[in-house]
Amino acid sequence: MKRIESFKIELNVSNVLLRCKTVDGPILCALFFIGIVLISLTFAGCEHQKPLSPADETPQIDTTLELADFKSAQDCAQCHPNHFSEWSGSMHAYAALDPVFLQMQKMGQQETGNELDQFCVQCHSPIASKLELTPPNYENSAVPKLVLEGISCMGCHAVSEVKSAKNADISYNPAGVIYGPLSDPAANGFHESAYHPNFDNSDLCSACHNVINARDVVIENTFGEFETSPAAAQGQQCMDCHMPVYRGQAATGGPERDVHRHYFVGVDLALIDFPDRDRQFNMVKELLRSAASIAVEVPQSTRAGDYFPITVRVTNQTAGHNLPSGATADRQMWLAVTLTDKGTGEIIYQSGHLDANGDLMDRHSEIRPNGDKDLILWSQQMVGTSGEDVFFSWQAYEERTVTIAPLQTVAPVYDQFLPASLVGPLQIDVKLRFRMFPPFILRKVDLPDLAQQLRIIDMDEWSQEIPVN
Ligand code: HEC
Ligand code: HEC
Ligand code: HEC
Ligand code: HEC
Ligand code: HEC
Repeated sequence: MKRIESFKIELNVSNVLLRCKTVDGPILCALFFIGIVLISLTFAGCEHQKPLSPADETPQIDTTLELADFKSAQDCAQCHPNHFSEWSGSMHAYAALDPVFLQMQKMGQQETGNELDQFCVQCHSPIASKLELTPPNYENSAVPKLVLEGISCMGCHAVSEVKSAKNADISYNPAGVIYGPLSDPAANGFHESAYHPNFDNSDLCSACHNVINARDVVIENTFGEFETSPAAAQGQQCMDCHMPVYRGQAATGGPERDVHRHYFVGVDLALIDFPDRDRQFNMVKELLRSAASIAVEVPQSTRAGDYFPITVRVTNQTAGHNLPSGATADRQMWLAVTLTDKGTGEIIYQSGHLDANGDLMDRHSEIRPNGDKDLILWSQQMVGTSGEDVFFSWQAYEERTVTIAPLQTVAPVYDQFLPASLVGPLQIDVKLRFRMFPPFILRKVDLPDLAQQLRIIDMDEWSQEIPVN
């Protein structure tokens, strides 16, 4: 078969159609054009002089707060059993136990001589960083239990102010009032309650779901993407999608009212033994399968040796933010395309398949680097001081993020010629696949065994058999 030697991509953004043909760089070409659109939507910063952790970026330690002001999630369980059990299996509960987080953080402190300090903990266990419970290189076995609860109940419900939409720029209320969405909370003997407008809009989420490193490189931009999204234009909030409403009790014995799920389903799954793993997996799968669709166009009949273009239209069906979003440097969404000659059973073309390590065959494959020139992958590349690939946010001087904007469609074309020996019929299988980590990142943080826990979720799939005349 003739190797795919030209590639075009159509981007249907604001009715502008971009096309690109190249001889040797189909992926670069695709990345370039998708990139142009995204870079114009995203803010990509790059400053080479700034120190790693300028003083004004060091998270504020709040000396007016004491550990005793904060209760464990366990203390809330007896009166808020649903909220507690849902939260317990969520990534918010996992955030400070996550072995990848812990290991990455350790490497970051070592590499920067502890300059990273509270940078990671300020979001992954926000109360801990305010109380100075987590000096650089802390061990989970030596810190109060509250630290391990990550974004615990009070991590959100004691937030009195969101100062800016990045890097956990929040304050906690030392008086111990619990804030929430209810303007008429029933009294209880355990805590004072008060309505706070942060629980009616996305401000609370904005503080942690925009991550900007000390060189102003935008590492995560979920809230930024959301701000200009169709969902935001219609007045929707993060909670409308991530905290669905049901009728029930906000607290045991309380009145029936509209309450909110606390599963916080996204794309991530615990890689260690953790509450509710199967339920979270099923919810993630359902969310991801609702999040995108593919539509494939191919010639309806063909002959051996013919030109056979495959156009795959991939649509982000989420109105709320890009796909993927968040920790895009760790996420992978890609197209797997396979052509099989059913007459011989032979696979005659493949892209988006995995090497023996489970990695995609882009330049990060150790076994077949650049072995899949046509690979279409949505992810984030972080770039170091002299243009080289880097893999951790503290090393990044620049980012190149290739994702699909809300409700947008991209349409890469696999242009190719069928082999002269084709018997037929021709089977075409296309899948849109997702996973939370590539195995090579787990090897980079020295946790290669966790790769066995990774699960690929097929977001959409399409197959057809084409007669060969
Ligand atoms: C990531 C932030 C976050 C965490 C962590 C969190 N909550 Fe909430 N919680 C919210 C938001 C936001 C709402 C309001 C949602 C809305 O009104 O759209 C809410 C609502 C509530 C309510 C009011 C009733 C309802 O469901 O609307 C209760 C009670 C509550 N949470 C208890 C808890 C408990 C107990 C925990 C820990 C086990 C917890 N929350 C963890 C953000 C959080
Ligand atoms: C002794 C029982 C009890 C305990 C323990 C308890 N709560 Fe509550 N909480 C209630 C009741 C009752 C309400 C009011 C429910 C209603 O009006 O529907 C409430 C309301 C809330 C609200 C809504 C406040 C508002 O105005 O929107 C939040 C949030 C909340 N609790 C969080 C927590 C958290 C976090 C903990 C643990 C630190 C906790 N609660 C522990 C009984 C309790
Ligand atoms: C219109 C519905 C909708 C809204 C609004 C929305 N989301 Fe999402 N979110 C989704 C869907 C669907 C997914 C799964 C697909 C994906 O990853 O984008 C998701 C995924 C995520 C993820 C995981 C992203 C990844 O790929 O790793 C995070 C984190 C997240 N959302 C946070 C937020 C926050 C914070 C807000 C508000 C600023 C928000 N979402 C608003 C629907 C929504
Ligand atoms: C104090 C910081 C903080 C706040 C406030 C916060 N989050 Fe998060 N959130 C995180 C962190 C950190 C993670 C990732 C934890 C992990 O996977 O290790 C996360 C994970 C998530 C995920 C799961 C993403 C995935 O890929 O599975 C969703 C969904 C989410 N948050 C939604 C929200 C929403 C909605 C709000 C506002 C109501 C909110 N968060 C407020 C820090 C925060
Ligand atoms: C501004 C808040 C913030 C800061 C600072 C931050 N994170 Fe996160 N982190 C998040 C959120 C939010 C997510 C979830 C995004 C998603 O699911 O797509 C996340 C996700 C992650 C994940 C992926 C979780 C998983 O297991 O899949 C890792 C690993 C991680 N962070 C490590 C770090 C490290 C290491 C640092 C410090 C160098 C750091 N984070 C700093 C907010 C933050």
